[in-house]
Amino acid sequence: MQIFREIKPLRAFLVEKWRAGQKLGFVPTMGALHQGHLTLIAASRAGHPFTVCSVFVNPTQFNNAEDFARYPRNLERDVEMLERAGCDVLFCPEEAEMHSDSQYLKFDFGHLDKVMEGKFRPGHFSGVAQVVSKLFHIVQPDTAYFGQKDWQQFVIIRTLVNELKFNVKLQAVETVREPDGLAMSSRNERLLEAHRKEATVLSRCLKDAREQLLHGKSVEDVKKNVLDSFNQSEAVKLEYFEVVNTENLTPIKSVGDADRAILCMAAYVGGVRLIDNMFV
Ligand code: PAF
Repeated sequence: MQIFREIKPLRAFLVEKWRAGQKLGFVPTMGALHQGHLTLIAASRAGHPFTVCSVFVNPTQFNNAEDFARYPRNLERDVEMLERAGCDVLFCPEEAEMHSDSQYLKFDFGHLDKVMEGKFRPGHFSGVAQVVSKLFHIVQPDTAYFGQKDWQQFVIIRTLVNELKFNVKLQAVETVREPDGLAMSSRNERLLEAHRKEATVLSRCLKDAREQLLHGKSVEDVKKNVLDSFNQSEAVKLEYFEVVNTENLTPIKSVGDADRAILCMAAYVGGVRLIDNMFV
């Protein structure tokens, strides 16, 4: 695997691939890789002769300095995992390579970035859109792969690609879960042993909520039940639970109101913020 820390040599390397018409798959990440990321790499490798992965903990998408400082980082282990997964190129730039001091460039996605994650993490999606558009310009992939766990992010990146006419196909890949249902996330590394079991409350509630909605319970009643489940333990705190249309993220009153509905939630488990979702 070739490793690049700077844009110029990476582009000088990739230009040969672009010229030869070689299809590139791209997996942008913030590192602290886990099986979920490896599934994205595998999906990219299955569809492309060449896979590029980026590892960059993007400061502009953190609205909380402490969260940024505590975000898990382990580049050495990431490199080993990517080598074993058959990734061809790793791009792992320093902050100064990606962002200038002036943070003038802002994105506004209207309703899409004001709800759920956008409501509780103001500026988050502007930062995501900033860095993803830079990465797309640098790598010029044919297809970029993202985890379904960040569904709102996927909808926003899809809007970014449509609006800015990026010539990139997007692929959302199903969330990979631990055997007990916990969605894999780099943030799981920060869970204390004592709280690890409690973290299953997210996937359990989503599964139960899905069942209840499919059996005709109202969204309002299901929301109450989810909140009740969270109120059983001091270690967990629900931030939001929403039932929204998968395409435009507007709230829905009954699962029959949308072609497809998705249940989305964010919660703190022992102080660690986790998100999860489930299609109905
Ligand atoms: O999903 C992530 O890991 C990040 O938000 C992304 C897309 C790599 C942008 O920093």
